[in-house]
Amino acid sequence: MNDAPKLGLVLGSGLGVLADEIQQRVTIKYEEIPGFPVSTVEGHAGQLVVGELSGMKVLAMQGRFHFYEGYRLDEVTFPIRVMKELGIDSVIVTNAAGSVNPSFEPGDLMLITDHINNAGVNPLIGTNDSKYGVRFPDLSNAYSEELQLLAKDAAKKIQVDLKEGVYVWNSGPSYETPAEIRMMHKLGGDAVGMSTVPEVIVARHASMDVVGISCITNMAAGILNQPLSHEEVIETTEKARETFLLFVKELVQLIAEN
Ligand code: HPA
Repeated sequence: MNDAPKLGLVLGSGLGVLADEIQQRVTIKYEEIPGFPVSTVEGHAGQLVVGELSGMKVLAMQGRFHFYEGYRLDEVTFPIRVMKELGIDSVIVTNAAGSVNPSFEPGDLMLITDHINNAGVNPLIGTNDSKYGVRFPDLSNAYSEELQLLAKDAAKKIQVDLKEGVYVWNSGPSYETPAEIRMMHKLGGDAVGMSTVPEVIVARHASMDVVGISCITNMAAGILNQPLSHEEVIETTEKARETFLLFVKELVQLIAEN
């Protein structure tokens, strides 16, 4: 059990390639794991990859489950509880996100400092499983201060201008309206996306430490005078991929050393 992974990675749209860099890997397809939902969206492979990354034993989700795909939130967050059961105590969550903050640019990486749950649902609704955590979990420090510092160090090391901000979760699958984006900006949001928050809530419920990284793939609706498309999101993720990979590998290295 000494060799069991302590760090989990949740890889967002177009960012699953990171799992390809895991050495001495064992892969397990989601459909082979009892209780796991199966991923459906294009660009989301569906497997767990266990192995070594930057000298650390990790377990990566190559592809995640989204609420907009029709999964229940207990299904969306099931893998986080599997991680917990396996002894994982820290998670790096990643996603592709639109920028609500006009000063960010597509291709930027944003350290998530906090989130706004704008979806009106919560994965912990229902009977509380006290094996994992309390009925009313505190989200005052949803994103670990310590891991945020390591993320900033990692960015410095590889000379990336890491942005910081608040991630807003919308259910999707429609992108937002310009009026919604103006509202989110007024409410303190910096980036918007359709994932991550359910996993973070369930991870924090189970006292796991979380660090979140958004890959800014587009300016959110209404900021530029142009339509949004999934193609643009995928295209920008591909362009930002090298930096993203370098950055997360550096972050894992720093986590391993600390
Ligand atoms: N809105 C919501 N989700 C997203 C966006 C966006 O603009 N870009 C990538 N994921």
